Amino acid sequence: MKTYVIEEKDELIAITLDKLAEGHRVPFEVFADDGELKKSLFDSGFLYNVFAKEMIYRQGLTRFYIKSANNLNFNQYLKHAEKLSRIVKDDNVLFSDYSEYKRKHGYIDKTLISPLTRLNFELGGMRYPVYGGIPIVGNPLSVEAIDALLKLGADVVIKGEDSPKYESYLHGLMHAEKESGTELRSIQIKQELLRCLFSKFLHNLNDGALFKCLMQETLNVVHMIQHFSEHPIFDLKDLFQIRNVDSYVSVHSVNVCIFSIALGVRLGMDEKSLFHLGAGSLLHDVGKVLISYEVINKQGDLSIDEYKHYCSHVVEGANFIEKLKDVPKHVYEIILQHHERLDGSGYMQKLMAKDIDMLSQIVTIADSYEALMTGTPKRKSMSQKRTLQILRDDAEEKHKLNRTAYRALNSILKE
Ligand SMILES: [Fe+2]
Repeated sequence: MKTYVIEEKDELIAITLDKLAEGHRVPFEVFADDGELKKSLFDSGFLYNVFAKEMIYRQGLTRFYIKSANNLNFNQYLKHAEKLSRIVKDDNVLFSDYSEYKRKHGYIDKTLISPLTRLNFELGGMRYPVYGGIPIVGNPLSVEAIDALLKLGADVVIKGEDSPKYESYLHGLMHAEKESGTELRSIQIKQELLRCLFSKFLHNLNDGALFKCLMQETLNVVHMIQHFSEHPIFDLKDLFQIRNVDSYVSVHSVNVCIFSIALGVRLGMDEKSLFHLGAGSLLHDVGKVLISYEVINKQGDLSIDEYKHYCSHVVEGANFIEKLKDVPKHVYEIILQHHERLDGSGYMQKLMAKDIDMLSQIVTIADSYEALMTGTPKRKSMSQKRTLQILRDDAEEKHKLNRTAYRALNSILKE
């Protein structure tokens, strides 16, 4: 994000943004007047969209400019913009464009962006079928800008290559929060740092040192949740927040990891079991990055062959983990068995209750809860009430899910 104020010598011309074509790149830089100074709002090549419009409105910006040198460019653009705005894209094209954008960008936890901090990376928004840049005028970020970001019903993303910058932002935040922040906020930052590390691992699966680091961080998270449950300042249910709109493997996995550890703590498990539970739940869907990206992200129903391929993520994940050194058996079992159901109706092995690892049964509850509470481009998210009804039915009536683990979840959430 740019921080400079334009120089005096640049001559600016006032423009309006009414005619910009949504879903298309703007081929010139735009400046905004925030009441004090004219600042860069977005660069040439910025992907304009409905989020951009909303953010501009919420920040109270009304006066916009371009450099006079770009005037010709602007006029040419306007001729095409109207035509571009009228093009209605086919569903499949929309989905493939959205998926492509999703692949190149990384999710970030927008609730961790603090006012009055400086960001040195650009922000984008994603909510199917919309995606594109988020313009924020001014750096450090104003309270209004952060408020607008939080109210935007979309996930916030950054360019893949900006991940290291985001991680150092989080470390800085962690440091600052140690002095003034709450324990819940510290856990949230720790959770997000674990997610960044896990996301890096998903892109570098053969990096042994990274895996070791990931396991150490998982153990640290176990210690943190244990400590907090012994010295409660807030409820365990506060750990069960879903902050994402769309589903991402790294976000889903870390959510399931935190939920599983919290369930284990509630069930009175020892540290060793909690670590196995945490590591297994973090890695449960690792196979998803080993199979076809198209199948994992497909919109609409899967064909029989595609569904078989999708299900293979449990075997692919377990096979991969088996090759690593010193991975506990429980972790392997969780990856292999997390889609089994107690009545034999799950996959891949169609195991019955007595043959399914106990820790895996807990992860299945956490996994199902997270999946139902999160939407995807294919399926809307469900309310907590509806989610608990479905899980209750599967646990208490149909005997598909572990009843004790379901009751632990229910008791935590209803506290
Ligand atoms: Fe899975």
